[in-house]
Amino acid sequence: MKICVGVFFGGKSTEHEISCISANQALHAINAEKYDVLPIYISRDNEFYIGDELFDLANYADILKDPGAHLSKVTLYKDGNTVKVRPVKGLFKKEIQIDVAFPIVHGTNVEDGSLAGYLQMLDLPYTSCDVLGGALGQDKAAMKDIFKAQEIPMVDYFVIYNADFEENYSDYFAKAKEIGFPLIAKPANLGSSIGIEVIKTQKEFKEKISECLRYDFKVVVERMIKDLMEVNISLIGGSEEVRCSAIEEVTNGFLDFDKKYQPGGAKGSKKLGNKAGVKNAASKGMASTIRKVPADLSDEKRNEIQQIAIKAFRALNSFGCVRIDFMIDKETDKVYCNEINTIPGSLAFYLWKEEGVSFDEECDILIRNALNRYARRSRKTYAFDTNILDNYKKK
Ligand SMILES: Nc1ncnc2c1ncn2[C@@H]1O[C@H](COP(=O)(O)OP(=O)(O)O)[C@@H](O)[C@H]1O
Ligand SMILES: [Mg+2]
Repeated sequence: MKICVGVFFGGKSTEHEISCISANQALHAINAEKYDVLPIYISRDNEFYIGDELFDLANYADILKDPGAHLSKVTLYKDGNTVKVRPVKGLFKKEIQIDVAFPIVHGTNVEDGSLAGYLQMLDLPYTSCDVLGGALGQDKAAMKDIFKAQEIPMVDYFVIYNADFEENYSDYFAKAKEIGFPLIAKPANLGSSIGIEVIKTQKEFKEKISECLRYDFKVVVERMIKDLMEVNISLIGGSEEVRCSAIEEVTNGFLDFDKKYQPGGAKGSKKLGNKAGVKNAASKGMASTIRKVPADLSDEKRNEIQQIAIKAFRALNSFGCVRIDFMIDKETDKVYCNEINTIPGSLAFYLWKEEGVSFDEECDILIRNALNRYARRSRKTYAFDTNILDNYKKK
């Protein structure tokens, strides 16, 4: 019998649709001769669905409007040593056993450790970060504090809390002036440039931070790099072993959500030019990201980025396939670690392809790593027999 891989995607997140696109790419990349592939769609209401229509992205516009009209609702449960998908409502009537979960979810309520916690409770092996890794990867303030403790280079930053913004305004403002304007303010828990504000002058500080605090309870404020080169690297592995991909340069990282993901959205953006190696649109999900793979970097810089990335990967308790994004200040040539994406768009397959790892091989490695982690963890002791409760028995 083949191993059954449940590909989980969607969820109650602003990046719901991007996750559908990323997942669909993987559904077709996972080697069907080796694995049974079961798409498990999580609706915006956190309902779980299965159905053959999920294999074709052309159906998704209709599915998202009314999942119940197209798919069968399911629930997952543990049955002895196995995990089963049980139909609850809809055409599908048979139970299916799944052996490993392949989460391809982005953003809050899913990628932030929530889905990992659910899978962990089900005792199902899964390909992505565990609860801690997912949570640290989602919260920019927690992530940066961990990076700082590990002396990973970052631009100067501080965190503003909604709860005491008014009360401690003068302290916050003093910190901002100390770093110097322009600044960038980011809601701690969002992605895809949602809610990010550029604060050009002192005069704008209060208004822009208040705007940012509409999105989150915490906002990260940092020095804005004026002459910026953005480079990203993917890593695959876990606590024991990790491997680095090629490095890409992206030119339009700071686009708003619409421009980033709507086809044709980046028409006005600066392009890298038509140099060889410039790739447009690695996927529709990144329709407007202009990327150059590999980035033009000296061996020394590439090595520096790889070493920082490995340190960051470990510091954040990462697992699976992640992408770590860097900023290079072109004025000083200094490299700064910006953030981790614990389940990157398109699973960064285009960076692995450059290293000679095809997308189906990448998926295969992730599945094998998940099964190995599960086996390793099973060998650790999580329970031991005691007779404490015997003392409470009625004599
Ligand atoms: N300190 C900074 N200086 C200059 N540009 C920045 C800075 N921080 C972020 N940006 C720009 O904003 C984009 C989005 O910020 P990022 O921290 O990656 O958040 P997100 O989670 O929304 O991707 C980056 O890709 C980069 O283009
Ligand atoms: Mg980013």
